Amino acid sequence: MYSSPVKNFGSTATTIEPARHVLGQLCMPGDKSISHRYALLSALADGTSTIKGYAPGTDCQTTLQCLKNLGVKIQIVDPMNEHNENIVSITGCGLGGFSPTTYQLNAGNSGTTIRLLTGVLAAHVFKSEITGDVSLRNRPMNRVIDPLQQMGATIKSTKGCPPLQIHGSSLRGITYTPGVASAQVKSAILLAGLHASGETRVIESTPTRDHTERALLAFGVTVNQSKLNIHIFGGQHLSATSLQVPGDLSSAAFWVAAAASLPKSEIEINEVGLNPSRTAFLDVLRTAGANITVKISGERAGEAFGTIRVKHNPLNPFKVGLDTVPGLIDELPALAALAANGGNLEVRGAAELRTKESDRIAILTSGLRKLGATVDEYQDGFHIHSTRQLTGGTVDAAGDHRMAMAFAIAALGGKRPTTITGSEVVDISYPGFFATLKSLCQ
Ligand code: S3P
Repeated sequence: MYSSPVKNFGSTATTIEPARHVLGQLCMPGDKSISHRYALLSALADGTSTIKGYAPGTDCQTTLQCLKNLGVKIQIVDPMNEHNENIVSITGCGLGGFSPTTYQLNAGNSGTTIRLLTGVLAAHVFKSEITGDVSLRNRPMNRVIDPLQQMGATIKSTKGCPPLQIHGSSLRGITYTPGVASAQVKSAILLAGLHASGETRVIESTPTRDHTERALLAFGVTVNQSKLNIHIFGGQHLSATSLQVPGDLSSAAFWVAAAASLPKSEIEINEVGLNPSRTAFLDVLRTAGANITVKISGERAGEAFGTIRVKHNPLNPFKVGLDTVPGLIDELPALAALAANGGNLEVRGAAELRTKESDRIAILTSGLRKLGATVDEYQDGFHIHSTRQLTGGTVDAAGDHRMAMAFAIAALGGKRPTTITGSEVVDISYPGFFATLKSLCQ
């Protein structure tokens, strides 16, 4: 058993001073979604894979920890090389090659870890148990349990939430239409399908991020895709490979929001992931009048990357609706922070936000109101009417990394300083967030 990277958050407070503008050039830590997938697929591959720029946040360390507990050999080659990149070397166990463990696996705060790993463990013919922190133990898992049981696994939960007891089995392929638009659900089924007999097919109602499909191709697996229909044949072996994770676009969204909301701001973000299934928030902002330029520099393992430049420009009121939500679900907190500083944003069809690391509709509404914003709360969204300058105040991050970062960006436009309690939770996806904030603010 290895020591757990899972942390309890809630003891640190950070005070954010109002800023006139943000200025600078920067790079993001490695993308969280892509890092999880590269680690998992490397663990299932034949041979040793190298992942450069692996996400440094607690969530992705948690995935490595779970994999180590399942017998995967993982080495941190150079924790911080001259490019500030984590390099991880993973020697795979081959398809279906994980070792049984008597320890309870702990996915910490990470929904991607528990849902994707459950897909893989469902196909391993042994019993395993996976849990998480208090937030994860309240998140819905039937969305992965139902399809995986249809494939032949037996999974017990506590009223649909973790801990999950997984009784893995030889699986059979299925055709499945998820009830929610979720890349985690799609990925859990595809990873189980990789181990199953015959063909597994996922039919999506709305497209979701496609990192799993692209990563599988990079490991030499054939994945067929036509519009919303993704299918994979089981039994395909993965070949180890060398990978580079692009910068995290969801983390970059907070700097985009800061620059788009504070007058005379100008930022440039380099080497950031630009996968089209993740860029919807940039399109929404441009439609609202934001001055954003995107330049694609290239593609690695099917993942586009490049540069984003943002200059402040006054924005028109903007709306986000049901069809757009899955493409920018993780960027809604950043968009809300922007709207609180002079925008006007209505979000509907986003009830999924209530099932994230916190109830993001409730926490954003109450937190932004505390900072002086006028916000209407709906069951499936919110409307931020920015009528006056925020006052500043004290808000709690509610154990949610994206809430801490959203409040910090909103706080920049306040009349007075804002204190964010439980602020160290940013380490889940973006260690160093507050230091970067300080360096960009003028
Ligand atoms: C993720 C998918 C999204 C997103 C989460 C990361 C992924 O969740 O909110 O932060 O890596 O697949 P859902 O699939 O539940 O929408």
